Amino acid sequence: MDPNGRAEHVGQPRIDTSVAHSARVHDYWLGGKDNFAADRAAGDAVMAAYPGIAASVRANRAFLARAVRFLAAEAGVTQFLDIGTGIPAANNTHEVAQAVTPGARVVYVDYDPVVLQHARVLLTSALPGTIDYIDADLRGPDRILRAAARTLDFTRPVAIMLIAVMHLIVDDDDPYRIVGQLTAALAPGSYLALSQVAADIETEQVAEARRRYNSLARETQRHRTQAEVTRFFDGLELVAPGVVPVQRWRPDSDLTAKAKSTMWCGVARR
Ligand SMILES: C[S@@+](CC[C@H](N)C(=O)[O-])C[C@H]1O[C@@H](n2cnc3c(N)ncnc32)[C@H](O)[C@@H]1O
Repeated sequence: MDPNGRAEHVGQPRIDTSVAHSARVHDYWLGGKDNFAADRAAGDAVMAAYPGIAASVRANRAFLARAVRFLAAEAGVTQFLDIGTGIPAANNTHEVAQAVTPGARVVYVDYDPVVLQHARVLLTSALPGTIDYIDADLRGPDRILRAAARTLDFTRPVAIMLIAVMHLIVDDDDPYRIVGQLTAALAPGSYLALSQVAADIETEQVAEARRRYNSLARETQRHRTQAEVTRFFDGLELVAPGVVPVQRWRPDSDLTAKAKSTMWCGVARR
């Protein structure tokens, strides 16, 4: 990164292929090509314990798209801070938001070097001033907020997206403080959209999947119950239908609603 925290367009980030990383394992489950043997081994180990993982990950991506569409089209949000971006897949935040509002601004944040490589390509094709990428760790929210303010106007509504990332933040890292610091920076009319793996859906299988993932991957997963996920929205006003499995959040078809997932999600207004 340059001294301002902006992604540079030179040099190659260091990629450790010896151990599984969440961005690449997630890419594997989604059928992508940005993954290595260690990622596929961890992905397969999880799938053996919980065969529904790929469907769950797809249902979460579909929630991401519906949430951004709701925020852009119904809530009128034009600024997005998407933390834990992941490797590009279908319906990335800027694509959905800019399909509704062409000038919508999106700041992506991730700490994975493969995600950074994709961001460099994206930034070369983006409309100037509408997309930025911050190579940063969610566990340092102050730095993220400072860097995001280059592109986003925090005196106006901003939607913070924490999609499928909080289960990678363990209790020792104080996840509620992190989310609280981020939402405290938001103007009235802003939103938080969040999803994370459940500790209380398909409990046994998912717990075994977590144990296998944690023994093979760089990050440690901490699954949470519906009540624990709801606590992330403390002080905010949850929009209907509240904290629900991702496929039940404003499904756009019967097919969507009938999907299976082990992810809780919610969207709330400040
Ligand atoms: C499971 S993927 C989710 C990607 C995308 N949000 C989605 O829902 O499709 C989790 C992403 O969060 C990123 N991540 C995990 N821990 C992080 C941290 N502490 N700081 C920044 N990014 C993090 C990973 O690198 C990965 O890209």
